[in-house]
Amino acid sequence: MSWKKFFNFKKEKTEAELLKAVTARPIPEHIAIIMDGNGRWATARNLPRTAGHRQGVEVLREIIETAVKLKIAHLTLYAFSTENWKRPESEVRALMSLMVEFLQKEIKTLHENNIRINMLGEIQGLPYDAAQEIKKSMELTKNNTGLQVNIAINYGSRAEIIRAVKKIAQDIAQNRLSPDEISEDLFTQYLETKGIPDPDLMIRTGGEFRLSNFLLYQSAYTELLFTDKRLLWPDFSSRKFLKAILEYQNRVRRFGGIDEQEGV
Ligand code: IPE
Ligand code: IPE
Ligand code: MG
Repeated sequence: MSWKKFFNFKKEKTEAELLKAVTARPIPEHIAIIMDGNGRWATARNLPRTAGHRQGVEVLREIIETAVKLKIAHLTLYAFSTENWKRPESEVRALMSLMVEFLQKEIKTLHENNIRINMLGEIQGLPYDAAQEIKKSMELTKNNTGLQVNIAINYGSRAEIIRAVKKIAQDIAQNRLSPDEISEDLFTQYLETKGIPDPDLMIRTGGEFRLSNFLLYQSAYTELLFTDKRLLWPDFSSRKFLKAILEYQNRVRRFGGIDEQEGV
């Protein structure tokens, strides 16, 4: 092998090449992301944790742009869990205002790109300005038909399931529903992800191998991709996102059956 060829072989694919490779194959309809590691990223640089969250928002913008290019239907982002209220008040406040700032700054561009903003989680528990900004963004973009960005904020999967169970119980008590009608399909109608297909791929950055109460019911057959602990969310990028999708595209999803190629 010539040296030239050897070096070409070693050369990392450019973003354009990765984009081409990904679009040549079936694109996942729904990608969910647990954007983890902001705090560690900042601490490693002797910066306050909020600096990590701020950098994380920059990455988010880049990922949304790539998702639009790929014509992905749903991108679901874990931004704040029901358990994140345990954090110091100053960090919680910073996270909420970053979200407000993001929507205020970006909503025009998001809207122009035909993006629909949706929220998963309990809006009632949020600070007033955060709730207002989310409602406004959802209202403005509700008829958009491109990428749907589902922001999970004050979201916890167990709380979501309990809310669904309560609503079902109320509907039964008020004779709007009979227990015989309860099925997997019906149950999903009571979840906040109603109308959204289950995630095909879930990515978690930061090296923790857990779901942290994210989309527990919906991810029964989701392909999980956990990054190495060296890859923290603020270091994630469009290239890494495309590589993750390529890895997903190389997996075989069986859904309990057998691979078509393996069958006799
Ligand atoms: C994820 O980063 C962002 C949120 C939870 C809001 P973290 O803040 O959890 O960062 P680490 O995991 O502590 O590094
Ligand atoms: C999960 O990350 C929540 C978000 C990314 C918003 P955490 O950092 O809160 O999860 P744990 O505490 O490590 O499980
Ligand atoms: Mg974390």
